[in-house]
This record gives sequence, C-alpha cells and structure tokens, in this order.
Amino acid sequence: MSKTDEMKKVRDEVVGLTASPLYVYRKESGNLPVIGEGNHDANILFVGEAPGRNEAKTGRPFCGAAGKILDELLESIGVARESVYITNIVKDRPPENRDPSPSEIEIYGPFLDRQIEIIEPKVIAPLGRYAMGYIMEKFDLGAELEPISVAHGKLYKTGSLFGEMTISPMYHPAAAIYTRALKDTLLEDFKILKQFR
Ligand code: URA
Repeated sequence: MSKTDEMKKVRDEVVGLTASPLYVYRKESGNLPVIGEGNHDANILFVGEAPGRNEAKTGRPFCGAAGKILDELLESIGVARESVYITNIVKDRPPENRDPSPSEIEIYGPFLDRQIEIIEPKVIAPLGRYAMGYIMEKFDLGAELEPISVAHGKLYKTGSLFGEMTISPMYHPAAAIYTRALKDTLLEDFKILKQFR
C-alpha cells in the first residue's frame, strides 16, 4: 500500500471514530477531525497537542494564531511548511480548548503511532509538554523526561522500527502568544532542526 493510501486509511478510521469521547462534541459543533498535513516523506515531523477552534473548523493543523507562529519559526530556518508533516496527538478538538485527558491521548495515540511509521521522520519535534510526554514515552525515553522548560531545544537520540531517530522537544508555539520571551527561545531552539532538513 502506498504512503498516501496508508494515510487515507488512518484518516478514514479517525473520521469514523465514534468510540471517541470527543466524537459527540465534534458532531454537535460541526467540527472536523484534524488528521495532519504535509509531506508523507518528511524528515521533520511536528506533533502538537490537539486542534483548536480554527483547526476544527477547517480540518487543518496549526492554521490559527499558534500556526502563524509556527509558520514564522519554519521560515526562520528556511524550511517550507509543505516539506514537513504537522499533526497532533489528539485529532478532535476538546471542548473549550481544555487540555486533552489521558483517556483521549490513549484513544488517539495509536493513530499518531501509525503516522510516524508511515512517514519515518529523521526527527520528531513534539510541541509542548503533552506531545513531549507521549513521544518520549513511546520511544523509551520516559526515564529521561524533564520539564519542557529544561528539555526544550535538546536532542534525544533513540531507535525506532525504521532506524535511528531523534526527538527534539519544543515549547508549544501558543506559549509565545502569552509570553513574548518564549518567541525568542523558540527561534533559537528551531535552529537545531536545520541539520535535519
Ligand atoms: N494547537 C495545537 O496543539 N495544535 C493545533 O493544530 C493548533 C493549535
């Protein structure tokens, strides 16, 4: 099966995920699930937390205020948005933008796992502490988990089914909306991703 077909299969399963506690909210609010977007052969994979309002209306990841910052960060290192893949752990918007619950992460996590196996990225950049926690645990780095204030911008080497992999946690771009200084930190941290372009 081609990568595109495998990704479509993931999409179709998420679309039909009536067992999700977020499915009723999706339907009631006329929202769309957000599967992910970008290059299926990307070297760099970004993993956010869950779709926000704009994302759930359009079905596209990081297309609101946080997305604008992500676009600026990508531009700062000369990486085209189309060359990377961008997704979230949780594929449906939680009500009122609350943090995803452990059971929601458990339901949607396996879809992200399959996306990682389809793309086989060189580096995964989890955005924010939820994505960092999930990805570090998944790649056997749970023992090295540190707060995002310590882990951001570091490189963690690990193995995967498809060979050597690196994880580079970043602050969530939305954090820079509220704390301006974090924008500079993000700009600095993103430079470490250049080597994987
Ligand atoms: N925040 C996220 O974590 N993901 C999005 O897609 C948008 C905002």
